[in-house]
Amino acid sequence: EETRRESLMVATAYAAKFFQDSLWETADGQNIGLSYYKERAFTPETIRKFELGYSPDQWEAFSAKAIKEGYKEEFLTEAGLSVKRDNGSLYDRYRGRVMFPIHSITGRVIAFGGRTLKSDKSVPKYVNSPESDIYHKSNVLYGLYFAKKAIRDEDNCYLVEGYADVISVHQAGIENVVASSGTSLTVEQIRLIGRLTKNITILYDGDAAGIKASLRGLDLILEEGLNVKVVLFPDGNDPDSYVRQLGSSAFKKYIDENKKDFILFKTNALLKDAANDPIKRAGVIREVVESIAKIPDSIKASVFIKECSMLMQIDERALLTELNKMRMAKA
Ligand code: UTP
Ligand code: MN
Ligand code: MN
Ligand code: MN
Ligand code: MN
Repeated sequence: EETRRESLMVATAYAAKFFQDSLWETADGQNIGLSYYKERAFTPETIRKFELGYSPDQWEAFSAKAIKEGYKEEFLTEAGLSVKRDNGSLYDRYRGRVMFPIHSITGRVIAFGGRTLKSDKSVPKYVNSPESDIYHKSNVLYGLYFAKKAIRDEDNCYLVEGYADVISVHQAGIENVVASSGTSLTVEQIRLIGRLTKNITILYDGDAAGIKASLRGLDLILEEGLNVKVVLFPDGNDPDSYVRQLGSSAFKKYIDENKKDFILFKTNALLKDAANDPIKRAGVIREVVESIAKIPDSIKASVFIKECSMLMQIDERALLTELNKMRMAKA
């Protein structure tokens, strides 16, 4: 079993090297792949650090070479690098895509995200590695290997949605950043962060989906006993586009000035629709108390109840009664 996993990792490392060589040393790699990265303002140092690559726009370039060099078909397919046709031959899963290797916490490549260069909506934007014995996506955070030291040092972890967000934010000098990429945030991912810091700041995309994912994420984080803040970006922006627009120092300033604790974020997000309708306001308050009820530490919870009471101008005792009801219902 361990040798099997090792074989999968060796095949995956070979693929990472293949995609990097294809980026730096082929004409298509330079003309298509490198110019794409350049357009995104990724520097050569960043491209090297994250081991970014390019998969040739051919059906079998990788698989044929790997087989020729002695890699076993079984490992190439299980690692999701090659796909078997009905007639038994192999073709490449990743073709004509810019390649983002996904590293384990110890820095070994265990999977890939491959981004299309086409704006054609009929092709998936990202193709990701399938689950395998070396890649369980719910247990992996993109960028964690590059972020772990900074997460400890800063005692905070920034959480973003995508590969490019991690890379751009990291390049801007904020290195304590990871993404849940390819899946919505899981409890396992929060626990991975929890070993390094108790503080998470969510930086999701500034769109309806990003706000919804932030609301869901903050509840999960609170349930795990961690502290959470949220930064909302202007609609249509994600951390990658916004850091490119503002430059790194203005971006850092934006984060510092716009991070909100979960109560403020949640009330703002929900109150938008509620306006002055008292019944809707009551609903918002109840939902905020629901989040507070997820906090395992009851002293912390009571501090947030106080904040909520001041913010919404509601009697603290009424909120506490509601909180206790919710706690009882859960137990
Ligand atoms: P987004 O749609 O926000 O993409 O998805 P992005 O990261 O901003 O991509 P760019 O900037 O256009 O390159 C966020 C993340 O969700 C996953 C990827 O991990 C992506 O980075 N995703 C998205 C997929 O796995 N598959 C998809 O087709 C789309
Ligand atoms: Mn397994
Ligand atoms: Mn999005
Ligand atoms: Mn983006
Ligand atoms: Mn995005």
